[in-house]
Amino acid sequence: MRILAIESSCDETAAAVVEDGRRVLSNVVASQIEIHRRFGGVVPEIASRNHTLAIDNVVARAAEESGCALRDIDAVAVTYGAGLLGALLVGVNYAKGLAYSLKKPLYAVSHIKGHLAANYIDSDLEPPYLCLLASGGHTALLRVSDYERTVLLGQSGDDAAGEAFDKVARVLGLPYPGGLEIQRLAREGSPVYKMPLPVFKGNDEIRFSYSGLKTFVINLVHGMEQRGEVIPRADIASSFQECAVEQLFRAAEHAAERTGLTKVAVAGGVSANERLRARFDEWGRATGREIYYPKLKYCTDNAAMIGAAAYYLIRSGARPSGLDLDAKATVPL
Ligand code: KG4
Ligand code: ZN
Repeated sequence: MRILAIESSCDETAAAVVEDGRRVLSNVVASQIEIHRRFGGVVPEIASRNHTLAIDNVVARAAEESGCALRDIDAVAVTYGAGLLGALLVGVNYAKGLAYSLKKPLYAVSHIKGHLAANYIDSDLEPPYLCLLASGGHTALLRVSDYERTVLLGQSGDDAAGEAFDKVARVLGLPYPGGLEIQRLAREGSPVYKMPLPVFKGNDEIRFSYSGLKTFVINLVHGMEQRGEVIPRADIASSFQECAVEQLFRAAEHAAERTGLTKVAVAGGVSANERLRARFDEWGRATGREIYYPKLKYCTDNAAMIGAAAYYLIRSGARPSGLDLDAKATVPL
């Protein structure tokens, strides 16, 4: 089954053709990062306008690069949420028009399920497994019992991990998006600063919190600035990254022990982080757990992951969406 998938929830206009959920025939991503960089983050209205400008060409390229004609596609899939409403609407409306004109079924896919499904591409991962989702919008642990059945084990009560990377990057004078920039700067420093690592102890609770860590770094940097000190940016980046990753790792370790799941997949933009991968790989080697990450190009937003998720959605017997499909700013985890 060949699915043409569209993704426009934030600042990437993306389209892909995916075969049977795991084989990517084409994957086109038009990034708006350069446009939003000068504002220090994504400006929703500008994102919507640029999706409108890019989408036709992105879909045409995805079809062309896949080597299959649009009439040979079996279904159209689109991210309906979570994300920026105006941005999502561009993809949703385009997908509706495309499905209608091609007389193909249209499937609405959750962006979150897309991030999870990125781990199926070119891989042999199958449920059940434990999934750590760490993106710009979410930080959560899920038990993936089956392709369409997930149980939320815990999530962040405040900021998401990726959001903390972005905010800390900004206070260190690094461009948006901050995750990769922090990772690069951290290579030049050492984790010499002890930063707050929330401990949710004494019970089975799984929870994340990133606002305390973010505020700590902001106060640290502002204090140094006020005293006229040189900011040891690389050491701060390294210390922050170490602490941010440690929190993700400890929660995943706890959840794996509690659930007895031996396969662990990490998903979302932060799963691209090299320190995170090193920490989880070390644990995998020590405990015999199998650790999965998406390929780097499928960690951050793309449409291939939406095509992969759509395949399993269709396989579960889900009904196609009608032309009344609406975009949603939030979707349940
Ligand atoms: O999954 P994603 O593309 O978008 C959302 O659905 O939110 O995640 C984007 C987030 C950003 O916060 C970005 O800073 C972070 O992922 N990120 C990283 C890295 N690459 C992207 N964080 C840490 N290390 C990275 N290498
Ligand atoms: Zn995303």
